[in-house]
Amino acid sequence: MACALFNFLFFIIFLLPVFTFSQNNGTVPVGTSLVATERSNPWLSPSGEFAFGFQKLQDNDQFLLSIWFNNIPAKTVVWYPNYTSPVSRGSTVEIDAQSGLVLRDPQRRLVWSTGVPDVSHGFMNDTGNFVISRSDSFRIWESFKDPTDTMLPTQIIEINGTLVSRKSETNFSRGRFYLRMVSDGNLVLNTRSVLTNSNFDDEYYNSQTSDPVNATNSGYQLIFNERGSIYVLRRNGEQYALTTKRSVPTTSDHYYRATLDFDGVFRQYYHPKSFSGNPGWTTAEYWPQNICMDIDGDIGSGACGYNSVCRLENGKPICECPQGYLLADPNNPYGDCNTNFIPNCGEDDQKGPAEDVYEMLEVSDTDWPKSDFEQISPCTVDDCRNACLNDCFCAVSIYRDNSCWKKKLPLSNGRIDTGLNAKAFLKFRKGNVPLPRPNITTPDKPEKDRRTLILVGSVLLGSSVFINCIFIGAACLGFFLIYNKKITNFRPVHDAAGVNVRGFTYKELALATDGFKEELGRGAFGIVYKGVVPMGSQTTIAVKKLDRVAQDTEKEFKTEVNVIGQTHHKNLVRLLGFCEEGPHRLLVYEYMNNGTLASFLFGDPKPNWNQRIQIAMGIARGLAYLHEECSTQIIHCDIKPQNILLDEYYNARISDFGLAKLLMINQSRTLTNIRGTKGYVAPEWFRNTQVTAKVDVYSFGVLLLEIITCRRSLEDLENGDGENPILTDWVWDCFAEGRLDTLVKNDTEALNDKKRLERFVMVGIWCIQEDSSLRPTMRKVCQMLEGILEVNVPPCPSPFASTA
Ligand SMILES: *[C@@H]1O[C@H](CO)[C@@H](O)[C@H](O)[C@H]1NC(C)=O
Ligand SMILES: *[C@@H]1O[C@H](CO)[C@@H](O)[C@H](O)[C@H]1NC(C)=O
Ligand SMILES: *[C@@H]1O[C@H](CO)[C@@H](O)[C@H](O)[C@H]1NC(C)=O
Ligand SMILES: *[C@@H]1O[C@H](CO)[C@@H](O)[C@H](O)[C@H]1NC(C)=O
Ligand SMILES: *[C@@H]1O[C@H](CO)[C@@H](O)[C@H](O)[C@H]1NC(C)=O
Ligand SMILES: *[C@@H]1O[C@H](CO)[C@@H](O)[C@H](O)[C@H]1NC(C)=O
Ligand SMILES: *[C@@H]1O[C@H](CO)[C@@H](O)[C@H](O)[C@H]1NC(C)=O
Repeated sequence: MACALFNFLFFIIFLLPVFTFSQNNGTVPVGTSLVATERSNPWLSPSGEFAFGFQKLQDNDQFLLSIWFNNIPAKTVVWYPNYTSPVSRGSTVEIDAQSGLVLRDPQRRLVWSTGVPDVSHGFMNDTGNFVISRSDSFRIWESFKDPTDTMLPTQIIEINGTLVSRKSETNFSRGRFYLRMVSDGNLVLNTRSVLTNSNFDDEYYNSQTSDPVNATNSGYQLIFNERGSIYVLRRNGEQYALTTKRSVPTTSDHYYRATLDFDGVFRQYYHPKSFSGNPGWTTAEYWPQNICMDIDGDIGSGACGYNSVCRLENGKPICECPQGYLLADPNNPYGDCNTNFIPNCGEDDQKGPAEDVYEMLEVSDTDWPKSDFEQISPCTVDDCRNACLNDCFCAVSIYRDNSCWKKKLPLSNGRIDTGLNAKAFLKFRKGNVPLPRPNITTPDKPEKDRRTLILVGSVLLGSSVFINCIFIGAACLGFFLIYNKKITNFRPVHDAAGVNVRGFTYKELALATDGFKEELGRGAFGIVYKGVVPMGSQTTIAVKKLDRVAQDTEKEFKTEVNVIGQTHHKNLVRLLGFCEEGPHRLLVYEYMNNGTLASFLFGDPKPNWNQRIQIAMGIARGLAYLHEECSTQIIHCDIKPQNILLDEYYNARISDFGLAKLLMINQSRTLTNIRGTKGYVAPEWFRNTQVTAKVDVYSFGVLLLEIITCRRSLEDLENGDGENPILTDWVWDCFAEGRLDTLVKNDTEALNDKKRLERFVMVGIWCIQEDSSLRPTMRKVCQMLEGILEVNVPPCPSPFASTA
């Protein structure tokens, strides 16, 4: 009895306060305060999903004033005052009538305050927004208007608004990455020195939503809407979407956030509200796509610290010190690396031959593109090595393509780039030479991979935990990176002979495809099979068996494969490898889950308007890249919905690019199968005039009209209405007669987006102009589709056509 009574009293005294608190309505009256201890109850939003209060940090006895997701185990922080460090136990926060939120340390000294007068109450909203209001309900301060590193749905960042990254996952001090909505209308990501608060350094992402000529087309808000989409809103009401994937789940059962993470990547995440199995936060999308390459300014250290080397893994930058260099701060793997010897010219430099003082260590595929002080060209490998050895200012020399670049400390923008085919010679003082690390980035045969692992394994036994982690990471990445060809800024770029995609043996591919069993499709070039190769984990691939490439064109095959392998764009299907063995010519591509655009577009149910817009823009961007941004221009020559694939997020990915040239080597492209039809093929094909990139523009135009109308370019005479068998003619007639609504029939989404519909149709008609000089370039097409460039009314596409 006594025991039960005691329990009851215990309940009353200790647990009741919790209960009364959980019945709150989100309102926090003036005078309410919280003390920084584990037991203090945060101010909860009415649903209890968000909490405002002190969160205890893991490492030490420090507390962070913050707002967090309260119903998930991670208690992820979404807001904290943007320039305070954590506070000690016993600090307080209070809602004060004269200054709003006031944070004081245990000695009651002011640490931080919102500094707003006439406060009536605070309110923790279910959106995650903490609001301070006057008695007339006017909102004087909102955490949404003073964000730190995270955005939530319904939050808007206006012109001049910023997010600032934190220092590391667990250190909430200000980091060096900024997201800003700048006054010209662009959303940009910049780096900035932490110490000096100087100007913003390298811009490594830009939404391109500024129109210097007509400001009404410029962006002015970054919006995260309640449905989980992030976009830049232009003053003319149009949206530039950052979130493009339709796989982002619906909001009602998921939490969302977008955080400028400490590694500089702006990521959108989601998390199920009910956490059976607790998958944690999943990354939906991220910007920029490759931070190791995209941070490339002349000032600043790059994505990692000085002297460090960056490599990308699942969109995450991983930083590593090169051999012989050590982290300046062992607790910050993303920070600077130092030499473990005295660098630069010293007393002993003059006394004898450089060989007596220094040794050079060779490493592969590492580059620091920004720290050159001398270039020697032409140059041999040995001369390059010796040039650095004999120059006491030289820290490393890079040899590539008969040229040599001498670099000095501090080295910046370091990155691993397996496609470079470069050698780096790192210089060390004798006695400080590190043991060579096993070659981890250039395994080209499976046997060699295994040997590398054994080597790594044996090194592991004798080194510290931290170095072990790096080694394991590096070994795993070694596998990964061979397939991850990146565009490089190494100057001068050009390499016709070096192949930078992986070579497979025929046997390997036969094994991977289980004897070429599962057919994915047949095209003009041969049959495509599904396969699986072990690349760390089992990776699904698509193997294309070319059946029309002549066998005596080995060199051209290699050259073309290399050109294709050097492309890197999110709207292209990536080439992972190739095989040329005896009569066999095969290409290995990444596998696309969602099949071809043809089956998506003409299937049932039809894709919605927004998806179609995104797909059309994706294809346009991919083509613009092929035409204008590759080191060698690539004309596709066969753009049609069967050659556009959709990845797991329904991004459009162009496939089969670069193959046209391969076939032309062989003169095997015949026009018999296209002559006489009016499908996707530009008229100049039939006229023996020179084929330019404009043929792709024509095909794109037809494709764009198909995407708009969800109709094939040539209607099946049996299935179609028979009256308008040729799509391009029909579209022109409808456009000329002002009947755009006929084109999209009952598609209300498209009808409600009339301005864009009209713009897209006009762009399509410009692209299919018979006179190729009237067709815009793909770059212009992109700008017109995005609404950056005005679209004039197009003329009739085929003024001289006689109806057959
Ligand atoms: C919340 O409850 C307090 C009393 O506990 C009341 O004064 C206030 O008006 C309520 N606010 C809302 C928004 O319901
Ligand atoms: C931090 O917030 C204050 C307003 O509370 C603002 O004036 C300041 O610019 C912000 N600092 C940064 C770096 O965003
Ligand atoms: C809470 O957020 C909702 C949704 O944005 C908004 O409608 C409401 O006015 C907010 N409440 C307060 C008190 O700010
Ligand atoms: C943004 O900041 C700049 C410079 O401080 C200022 O001139 C401009 O008026 C601000 N724009 C807005 C919309 O606040
Ligand atoms: C966080 O980083 C800052 C700046 O480098 C440093 O002064 C501080 O001690 C760090 N805090 C923790 C908890 O490690
Ligand atoms: C700016 O663009 C808008 C629509 O995008 C257009 O209506 C307006 O006429 C343009 N203004 C000028 C000065 O060109
Ligand atoms: C690493 O590669 C270089 C040349 O690329 C070679 O000389 C060296 O022996 C290799 N080291 C190992 C451990 O395989």
